[in-house]
Amino acid sequence: MSVAAPAIRVAGSEAGLADALATVLTDCVERGASVGFMAPLARDRAVGFWQRVIASAGRGERILLVAELPGRGIVGTVQVILDLPKNQPHRGEVAKMLVRSDARRCGVGRALLVAAEAAARDRGRWLLVLDTVTGGAAERLYRSLGWTAVGEIPDYALWPDGRLCSTTVFYKRLAGAPERAGA
Ligand SMILES: CC(C)(COP(=O)(O)OP(=O)(O)OC[C@H]1O[C@@H](n2cnc3c(N)ncnc32)[C@H](O)[C@@H]1OP(=O)(O)O)[C@@H](O)C(=O)NCCC(=O)NCCS
Repeated sequence: MSVAAPAIRVAGSEAGLADALATVLTDCVERGASVGFMAPLARDRAVGFWQRVIASAGRGERILLVAELPGRGIVGTVQVILDLPKNQPHRGEVAKMLVRSDARRCGVGRALLVAAEAAARDRGRWLLVLDTVTGGAAERLYRSLGWTAVGEIPDYALWPDGRLCSTTVFYKRLAGAPERAGA
């Protein structure tokens, strides 16, 4: 069965956005993703988190992207954090890459990451970093799009059920980046 391509857009402050994103986040945490929250994740905590993210995006501190599938609404999201120290104006941090479990393996994550890279580049951010659970689906996604693994930090975070998990740190220099300093 062919699946429609996701539509990726920058999220604004439209009604229902925090609720829709809370549904995506809650689904990911319930399915065992280590993305900053423990299970069970209360609805008001999830909605409150997204309300703060949306406000932060409104202040220009981050880019908030959402992915929609026809007839299914928002099925995924990712952020590029721009609010970094003054001596790192060329850098962005990719965070909270989340795809609803019923929409996975049909290219939503890849489309979000491609769009996040393009949006970062448009803002002059040519060096991106992120961290993700070692050995998971996300790590394969990042590697497949040319991200470089820097190293692994054992026992960095917790799974939603409380077990420790390791994290791998990645970076990517985007097209058009200057020559490496000292290279
Ligand atoms: C990681 C995640 C965002 C991937 O989203 P997705 O929409 O399923 O990803 P895509 O369909 O675009 O997959 C792109 C590529 O990533 C890799 N990939 C993604 N999921 C994979 C899996 N379960 N197993 C192996 N490879 C996988 C593959 O290379 C895939 O390409 P292919 O389908 O052509 O083989 C999704 O699994 C998710 O939301 N997980 C829970 C939250 C999470 O852990 N986020 C990461 C935070 S850093």
